[in-house]
Amino acid sequence: MGAVVVFCSQTGSAKRYAGWLAEDLGCNAVPLEQVEAAAARAGVVILCSWFHAASLKGAKRFQALMAAHPEKRYAVVAVGATPMPSELWPAAEHEEAFRRSFPAGPYPDLPWCYCQGGFHFDRLGVGDKIMMRLYFKMLESEARKGSERSATALAQMRKGYDGCDRSYLEPLLAELRQRGWV
Ligand SMILES: Cc1cc2nc3c(=O)[nH]c(=O)nc-3n(C[C@H](O)[C@H](O)[C@H](O)COP(=O)(O)O)c2cc1C
Repeated sequence: MGAVVVFCSQTGSAKRYAGWLAEDLGCNAVPLEQVEAAAARAGVVILCSWFHAASLKGAKRFQALMAAHPEKRYAVVAVGATPMPSELWPAAEHEEAFRRSFPAGPYPDLPWCYCQGGFHFDRLGVGDKIMMRLYFKMLESEARKGSERSATALAQMRKGYDGCDRSYLEPLLAELRQRGWV
């Protein structure tokens, strides 16, 4: 049995990563809503999803599948607005955010990677637009107090951007190959 990629995406970034990954693995990318049916025909199931207020969308549904089918292998691509690890955004923060949805206790050996997505305010649902307006206000206040990170994030999000890059998937692909899963 081969692999399948499932995605949860509102504005297209996680879906794009899912498409790239599926192309690299020679398998299908399907919406998370179809995960149970798609997984029935696969030995490796990879979730591409996005951070929403510090938790990964669809994690619970994916975890239910993991619990129901411990014989299968799983991996996760976590997409967010935060830039790739750097001095301003240390990798430990990406790890911490990921572990809020997939704690190391129950998921000690789950291959995953972080990929920067994008930000497209006009494509958000009504509730998310409200949340983001409040978030912008918070960033404005932090920027006024001198936070370089908040000022940078605010400027980028106001303009909107596409930070997706296929090469960000490479560490996960290398790990899956090294494990002999793909
Ligand atoms: C309401 C809301 C909350 C978000 N929270 C986070 C977050 O906690 N961490 C993060 O890195 N990105 C966060 N983002 C940014 C999204 O994860 C990012 O835009 C991602 O690329 C969206 O993926 P999609 O294009 O597949 O929908 C948030 C976006 C929205 C709209």
